[in-house]
Amino acid sequence: MSLQENGPSIAIVGVTGAVGQEFLSVLSGRNFPYSSLKLLASKRSAGKTQLFENQQYTIQELNEECFDGVDIALFSAGGSISKKFGPIAVEKGTIVVDNSSAFRMVEGVPLVIPEVNPEAMEGIKVGSGRGGLIANPNCSTIICLMAATPLHRRAKVTRMVVSTYQAASGAGAAAMEELLQQTREVLEGQEPTCEIFNQQYAFNLFSHNAPIMSNGYNEEEMKLVKETRKIWNNMDVKVTATCIRVPVMRAHAESVNLQFENPLDENTAREILSKAPGLVIVDDRSANRFPTPLEVSNRDAVAVGRIRRDVSQEGDYGLDIFVCGDQIRKGAALNAVQIAEMLL
Ligand SMILES: NC(=O)c1ccc[n+]([C@@H]2O[C@H](COP(=O)([O-])OP(=O)(O)OC[C@H]3O[C@@H](n4cnc5c(N)ncnc54)[C@H](OP(=O)(O)O)[C@@H]3O)[C@@H](O)[C@H]2O)c1
Repeated sequence: MSLQENGPSIAIVGVTGAVGQEFLSVLSGRNFPYSSLKLLASKRSAGKTQLFENQQYTIQELNEECFDGVDIALFSAGGSISKKFGPIAVEKGTIVVDNSSAFRMVEGVPLVIPEVNPEAMEGIKVGSGRGGLIANPNCSTIICLMAATPLHRRAKVTRMVVSTYQAASGAGAAAMEELLQQTREVLEGQEPTCEIFNQQYAFNLFSHNAPIMSNGYNEEEMKLVKETRKIWNNMDVKVTATCIRVPVMRAHAESVNLQFENPLDENTAREILSKAPGLVIVDDRSANRFPTPLEVSNRDAVAVGRIRRDVSQEGDYGLDIFVCGDQIRKGAALNAVQIAEMLL
């Protein structure tokens, strides 16, 4: 991040959380220009200090006055905080980039992955004198669409089947801590402490903890269904998903099966993916080396591999791929900062 008199004034809401801390790291790493920085969290954190680029900041309790004079606010403090304070910030002329699901499906609110649909936020700029809201998609949706979109542009996806293997980090800092603690406890022969997930997570896996809906899907799965349609601006694409939590500390993995309207062979797909921004191919069949959550942790790029023709479909109309991405980074903080960069 670089302190510049004519840069925007920035606020980070939820700065003490897993995503909030990553915001700081990404802003710093990308040399984002700023004239001032406000760090906001709950009452619990108010008064604590945060060192950032050799300067000590005091964390303030979020309240309605916090947004006076703020150009861009990066929100990651949960849906209810976004619902309450997002509109207040917008009213004060702030452009809010929101990481929660509060506004993603609201008509007129752009839902943006910069590599995929930057046009959705066209015309929203700092300095226009108007506030605004831009939603960051769900982390699994971002990671999936980073790889699926370049193929979709070439051959048009008609149906997509996604199975996820989601890390503890997706549920925040406390969930990461619980996975560590449970692992220690199980190794020491003690009963694991189950406060965040209500069941043993270490040495186990389970269906995603998001609430189950009346159609039997959980909310995380339906986010993949609905957000894909909005981001691709295509209400006809058929998407189904099964979301699973696995005892990985950080970075999600996803198996994605694609069906196309037009033929797309494996080699052309590999070539398209090799040129796609924000993606790296890890697809070494001879060495059995493919993307892993560990290798993408703390990295910007989403990794894609296991690129192969789906033998259950006729001709070249189906592909299977496997993607891994750091969901605190590209699935949240990095994507939001990329959106903020487009506001300048
Ligand atoms: N983790 C991910 O990969 C991910 C990805 C995409 C989107 N998101 C979304 O980002 C948001 C935060 O996720 P997280 O994983 O970073 O969670 P987290 O680690 O639990 O952090 C939550 C943050 O919200 C703050 N907060 C809670 N109650 C507050 C209040 N009343 N007023 C002000 N601040 C409050 C917390 O501050 P205190 O420390 O003071 O309590 C903390 O900074 C959620 O909406 C989540 O869905 C997360």
